[in-house]
Amino acid sequence: MHAALISSFEATPSGRSLREHALDALATAVLVRGEDRRIVYANAAAEHLFALSSRALASRSLDELVAPSAALESAIAKAIAARAPCREQELSLTLGGRPPLPVACTASPLDDGTRVLLEFRPIDQELRALRDERVREQQQANRELMRSLAHEIKNPLGGIRGAAQLLERELDRAALVEYTQVIIAEADRLRALVDRLLGPHRAPACRRMNVHEILVRVKGLVQAEFPAIPVACDFDASLPEFDADPEQLLQALLNVARNAAQALASTASPEIRFVTRVARSVTLGKRRHRLAVAIRIEDNGQGIPDAIRERIFYPLVSGREGGSGLGLTIAHTLVAQHGGTIEWTSTPGRTVFTVLLPLAHEETEGRPT
Ligand SMILES: Nc1ncnc2c1ncn2[C@@H]1O[C@H](COP(=O)(O)OP(=O)(O)OP(=O)(O)O)[C@@H](O)[C@H]1O
Ligand SMILES: [Mg+2]
Repeated sequence: MHAALISSFEATPSGRSLREHALDALATAVLVRGEDRRIVYANAAAEHLFALSSRALASRSLDELVAPSAALESAIAKAIAARAPCREQELSLTLGGRPPLPVACTASPLDDGTRVLLEFRPIDQELRALRDERVREQQQANRELMRSLAHEIKNPLGGIRGAAQLLERELDRAALVEYTQVIIAEADRLRALVDRLLGPHRAPACRRMNVHEILVRVKGLVQAEFPAIPVACDFDASLPEFDADPEQLLQALLNVARNAAQALASTASPEIRFVTRVARSVTLGKRRHRLAVAIRIEDNGQGIPDAIRERIFYPLVSGREGGSGLGLTIAHTLVAQHGGTIEWTSTPGRTVFTVLLPLAHEETEGRPT
């Protein structure tokens, strides 16, 4: 269908067909990338998104418009290989000099794949809410699976550990005791992993608390572990105290902050910033809140690896040597237990994780704020 559309544009370059009007009326930015990676078509929403006229867009290559993005290239390659649209790749578009813009992108091959139609939709709050919902559902399913698996793993593991201990008492050669020690240590490691996979095992014990005190504790812990990384604080003094479980919140924020510090290992002038702000009219879960607290943890590291961007909140997903891939899963669960969520954006040189927690004055979905 797209091929026919484009040919009809080419056939009547001066006249504006109904189809062309229709494409221009779309809120979605549409580009067609032709041979040599040059843009051969842009609709009105694309002109708006890239702040260039379609004439100016037409002479450019895609690489001049957006910073090189492995996720975008892989979406295009997949679409061409499968000869079918590749949808909903979330990308961060870096458009000349402007802050990175999170967008959802669909790539569809036209004709034999020399031309590719690209649709870019800036991700609004609803889309983010949908993504959040997906993570919640996935985590619920994981928890149920883990609960039954944990039972199956922990019982025999206890048996193995006990038997190794009994065996150890019978052994008279130190060299053999080393082996039973390995069995015991590995059994303990596996048990600790299963416990972490099971996630937080208690409901939050909420009390009125000051989030800035928690962040100062997180800063102290991060600086003790990574003394070379400066942590700057930009706190909104007008932020009210609110009800939360301070230990759980500390754990969640520490997990996010440690990731930031670990991502800065090879950065020349590393810096982490903790920022707090009041956020207005925020949808968390399915509820809209007039007020929320936004806690941002920013770093200037290399960014989240493209290969795991879609899955960072899932258990055992890690882009880091030696990482167990549980820090963000746990942080997300703890924050969700408080009715909040975690959002993020990431481009090389700037990654921002935002923990959003509801403040008072909850409103049900759909009511005006
Ligand atoms: N600020 C960040 N910058 C770059 N990559 C990040 C950042 N935060 C998270 N990531 C990526 O997300 C992955 C998942 O993080 P997560 O905290 O869940 O697991 P982990 O850090 O690998 O292991 P652990 O269980 O020890 O926390 C990380 O391995 C890293 O690749
Ligand atoms: Mg981590």
